[in-house]
Amino acid sequence: MEITAVLMLPLLLLAISGILFIYQEVSRLWSKSAVQNKVVVITDAISGLGKECSRLFHAGGARLVLCGKNWEKLEILYDALLSVADPSKTFTPKLVLLDLSDISCVQDVAKEILDCYGCVDILINNASMKVKGPAQNISLELDKKIMDINYFGPITLTKALLPNMISRRTGQIVLVSNIQGKFGIPLRTAYAASKHAIQGFFDCLRAEVEEFEVVVSTVNPTFIRSYHTYTETGNWEASIWKFFFRKFTYGVHPVEIAEEVMRIIRRKKQEVFIANPIPKAAIYIRTFFPEFFFAVVACGVKEKLNVPEDR
Ligand SMILES: NC(=O)c1ccc[n+]([C@@H]2O[C@H](COP(=O)([O-])OP(=O)(O)OC[C@H]3O[C@@H](n4cnc5c(N)ncnc54)[C@H](OP(=O)(O)O)[C@@H]3O)[C@@H](O)[C@H]2O)c1
Repeated sequence: MEITAVLMLPLLLLAISGILFIYQEVSRLWSKSAVQNKVVVITDAISGLGKECSRLFHAGGARLVLCGKNWEKLEILYDALLSVADPSKTFTPKLVLLDLSDISCVQDVAKEILDCYGCVDILINNASMKVKGPAQNISLELDKKIMDINYFGPITLTKALLPNMISRRTGQIVLVSNIQGKFGIPLRTAYAASKHAIQGFFDCLRAEVEEFEVVVSTVNPTFIRSYHTYTETGNWEASIWKFFFRKFTYGVHPVEIAEEVMRIIRRKKQEVFIANPIPKAAIYIRTFFPEFFFAVVACGVKEKLNVPEDR
């Protein structure tokens, strides 16, 4: 009796782990089938999250259209994808040069994609440009460029592909945004403004196209880990802290976010936040206690004003 009781807990834990493992594997396979044979367009497929989405969707049997503003990097990605995947289960990706700051070319890019495949099933609006610095130091030209790349470019591409989705009564548009599209933080004026603008656009569009079976999904990460991030060695206390709180320190790995994008597509989810509890709570605090929120984000801005600009 006692031995049975002692064995009960490990057996229970083993059973739960087994069930979780099976659930994850089934979910992964199911997600892959959601993109099989589908025409999927990814903007900025060549770096960070876009590259991981490309790998995952290619392996899942999607007919990929990989967009990027650097042809050499697109070709490197193309070779990498072809070298690892089974050609009998995958499609050769189509490469498209796309610089979202050149709005006049975006319509031509949409035409090129439609001429090639005749339709688009899933559009992933991922490309974006970041800028960090005090508002008075950011030129109006840069503010406008950010709006072109983060707002006007993606909406131009979306509007060009939308009639095809509406006429076929199917399609999904995924916007990779940022939690900064929900609230503003200091030194991110142009970036946060562009993310607020695009979230507003897609929230309205979601309601408009629902009757045509077109789904609009918004993914809001807080902080995506850079490939160049490695754990520092030497200071073991800092290393242990960073190991256990790595998502706070380095952000979520692009692979994890790409898998989440795949799940969002399969479940046709409307909005997802990939964030720790503090930024998630900040959304509610901004809504219900705005003065408290403004006071908190204003703290320490004076020191931050001395940090160098990103670009
Ligand atoms: N990084 C984060 O911590 C974070 C957090 C939350 C949300 N996000 C969002 O997640 C998405 C992907 O982020 P990420 O971290 O993988 O990349 P990222 O570092 O934010 O960079 C975005 C990518 O877009 C490209 N891009 C810039 N200007 C472009 C243009 N004119 N035309 C086409 N592409 C252009 C950039 O290429 P170049 O490098 O060649 O300029 C870069 O590869 C973005 O929408 C971003 O806003 C990022």
